[in-house]
Amino acid sequence: MHFDKIELYFQYSLMLVRGVLCQLVHFKVPKLLFMGRGARIYGFSHLRFRQPMKLGNHSTIDLRFTNKVVIGSHFVLGDFSTMRASGSQKFKCQKLLIGNHVTFGPYSCIGGGFGLSIGNDVMAGPYVSIHPENHIFRDLNTPIRKQGINGVGIKIGSDIWIGTKATILDGARVADGSIIAAGALVVGSFPPLSILGGLPARVLKKRGSESPVVRPEGGA
Ligand SMILES: CC(C)(COP(=O)(O)OP(=O)(O)OC[C@H]1O[C@@H](n2cnc3c(N)ncnc32)[C@H](O)[C@@H]1OP(=O)(O)O)[C@@H](O)C(=O)NCCC(=O)NCCS
Repeated sequence: MHFDKIELYFQYSLMLVRGVLCQLVHFKVPKLLFMGRGARIYGFSHLRFRQPMKLGNHSTIDLRFTNKVVIGSHFVLGDFSTMRASGSQKFKCQKLLIGNHVTFGPYSCIGGGFGLSIGNDVMAGPYVSIHPENHIFRDLNTPIRKQGINGVGIKIGSDIWIGTKATILDGARVADGSIIAAGALVVGSFPPLSILGGLPARVLKKRGSESPVVRPEGGA
């Protein structure tokens, strides 16, 4: 047990060293940034974040060609996850605004595209995908890859739990207090306190309509 603690502190110390070095290289005054093995930040000059922030092993934040990116405190990006709010020389990604205490599990993929806002206290499980953009495909005589992209962005409120493998598409509006079930495909707008699930997602039930919570005495 004791060894576990020492190992954890050692691991976090190493992550902090990486984070401090990364900030110094980018001429930033170091904050509490914990970076796992192989974690990368591109376009650091666009990033405003509140400490602490933790980037898992081999995770990437790519913010090149972006208008504005603000990330609140206690942000966690899981191992092998990518947050890509990077457009191109022709297209700048819209605002990416993330509140406090937002966490993503491993292998998540978060796009910036036409704008993404996430409130406070949002927990997302592993393999969650968020895509605030679509490819245009109207013209049958031009390859889709040449037709450009469009979108209106995604808004995710506060106090939300996003289950594993949920996919959230452009235009989605998920209101405060909602839960997105594992594997849900979220398109459209939903009222507060919704429990969403399915493909495409529908309101499975409303939070508060369940029977009273019975807390188990011990863990599983
Ligand atoms: C949504 C969830 C929280 C269940 O909530 P719940 O209140 O216990 O729901 P129930 O088990 O009572 O199911 C209610 C209904 O939703 C359906 N449902 C539950 N989970 C579903 C899912 N992931 N997708 C589609 N439908 C689902 C049930 O089949 C049931 O349908 P019915 O009323 O027609 O029988 C849970 O199923 C879930 O998806 N959890 C995410 C787990 C996860 O990803 N963990 C790791 C990341 S932290």
